[in-house]
Amino acid sequence: MELDFSQRNVFIAGGSSGINLGIAHAFAARGARVALLSRSAEKLGVAATELARYGGEVLALPADVRDVDSVRAALAEAHRHWGPIDVLVSGAAGNFLAPATGMSENGFRTVIEIDLMGTFHVLRNAYGFLRKPGASVINISASQAFNPTLFQAHVCAAKAGVDMLTQVLAMEWGPEGIRVNSIVPGPIADTEGMRRLAPEPEALAAVVDQVPLRRLGTVEDVGHMALVLSSPLASYVTGTVVKVDGGNALRGSRDYREAVQSPVSLAKES
Ligand code: NAP
Ligand code: COA
Repeated sequence: MELDFSQRNVFIAGGSSGINLGIAHAFAARGARVALLSRSAEKLGVAATELARYGGEVLALPADVRDVDSVRAALAEAHRHWGPIDVLVSGAAGNFLAPATGMSENGFRTVIEIDLMGTFHVLRNAYGFLRKPGASVINISASQAFNPTLFQAHVCAAKAGVDMLTQVLAMEWGPEGIRVNSIVPGPIADTEGMRRLAPEPEALAAVVDQVPLRRLGTVEDVGHMALVLSSPLASYVTGTVVKVDGGNALRGSRDYREAVQSPVSLAKES
């Protein structure tokens, strides 16, 4: 029963919608107590009601990851209710499409502060509340961390930093039995991220056409990886950046397909 999370305490920063809420469902469905942090009390309320149907305890904690005091208070509140945190997910993020010359200093800074500083605030302040040994920390990253992406200067810089934090903290916290990993979701259906990056149906179809597995991912796909990474099945896994993306980040095959006009006839000749 490696995927039984009953009596486990899960804290999800950015957990009120999309992929992170999908992760919350995955844990709550397997018996975990789940605490959600995000800015909007209204979104948190809706999410908490959804999760309550699994019968476990749910905490909704309004906070802004840019405001370290509010993050600290939310973590302390979860700890006060349930004790040590077994699983910590840091996934709050902001994104918009803009060339570097189309974003102000404040626009760039806003994404760095939510994605990168926010992740530092969450992990740094959760440290004292994590179960030692045994805690699993998961940062939600993106392929922008390692694939330079047009009109994503802010997100590329921020998520590259997030993956470096993952790896450094895996080294610093490993001796205490805390594992730290990143998940890189691919294009995930029905999420705010995809609505912002591919707003038109044509753009979404073009995205699917680039994915080797030829489909969008689901929030369940990402949730399943979070479960595995937080289970005893992954007890020797730390400092990894795990893609859950249908092969989407494998740019080489994509570029080659564009360069070679008729890959099908090429395959037939070989
Ligand atoms: P989403 O639904 O907008 O999720 C973002 C979450 O973060 C929401 O719960 C939001 O709630 C919260 N949030 C935003 N700013 C915050 C702040 N300053 N303080 C606290 N909470 C904040 O978007 P999503 O597309 O599911 O993305 C989730 C994660 O997956 C992100 O880390 C994103 O980079 C990553 N990702 C997504 C995709 C994709 O296909 N969608 C692909 C790769 C990576 P509030 O509005 O209530 O604050
Ligand atoms: N193009 C260029 N600049 C933009 C922009 C866009 N599409 N959208 C916002 N900005 C700029 C603003 O103009 C502002 O800069 P300024 O003060 O110099 O004018 C700066 O970014 C901050 O915007 P603001 O709306 O005040 O920030 P916020 O804290 O209210 O919201 C965002 C943060 C902008 C990231 C907002 O989109 C958000 O809350 N996103 C969360 C959800 C999300 O992005 N989900 C997908 C995750 S992958």
